[in-house]
Amino acid sequence: MVEEKLYTDYLQIVKSFRKYLEKKQGIVKKEDNLEKKSPEKLLKALYRSMQNCRKCSLFKKRTHLVFGEGNPKAKLMLVGEAPGRNEDLQGKPFVGAAGKILTEALKRFNIPVSQIYIANVLKCRPPANRDPYPEEIETCLPYLKKQIEIINPCLICTLGKFATQVLLNTNQGITFLRGKRQYYKNIILVPTFHPAACIYKPNWKKLFFEDMEIIGKILKSEF
Ligand code: URA
Repeated sequence: MVEEKLYTDYLQIVKSFRKYLEKKQGIVKKEDNLEKKSPEKLLKALYRSMQNCRKCSLFKKRTHLVFGEGNPKAKLMLVGEAPGRNEDLQGKPFVGAAGKILTEALKRFNIPVSQIYIANVLKCRPPANRDPYPEEIETCLPYLKKQIEIINPCLICTLGKFATQVLLNTNQGITFLRGKRQYYKNIILVPTFHPAACIYKPNWKKLFFEDMEIIGKILKSEF
């Protein structure tokens, strides 16, 4: 009788232990799934996590937070400064005058929009398009870095001084850095002028186009 009781207790322990192991395995499987999530899903999750961001005061006047847009597996990532008026109204990056110049350059050098993802350093528009404040950049930068990590592009093109200096962690000027191959982590980064700055500076526009040609060539010959 005692032996029988011991045996049923033993079976119960084995059963519980098996359940414990199955549960543990289940958790491991879940973690594996997380690792394997597609860039599209990871970007969506990132967007959901920040769509109501109130980490700096720019949220007060925004119409839309401009997360970014494009191919989640893009080879080329373009990084601008911050949304302007049109971008704030539409919730999309580079849909105004600067966007027109950018689109013109992409077309001229046969850089397919399907291979691109566009994002900004700041996700919300600074009032009257003023320059971003250092504390706004510091607060918003982790979102951009996460986007880069998820998309893992072969090439980054920073548009203008702010995106360039913040990703290269440098104070060097854009006129010095533009068109030269740099690195963000292990990703090639080529800085150029901000297309908005080219609107009133025809000589900058010419250099901006030269840089975009370099970008097109790197994309075609190296990736
Ligand atoms: N300027 C930027 O830097 N980003 C935009 O999205 C629009 C204008």
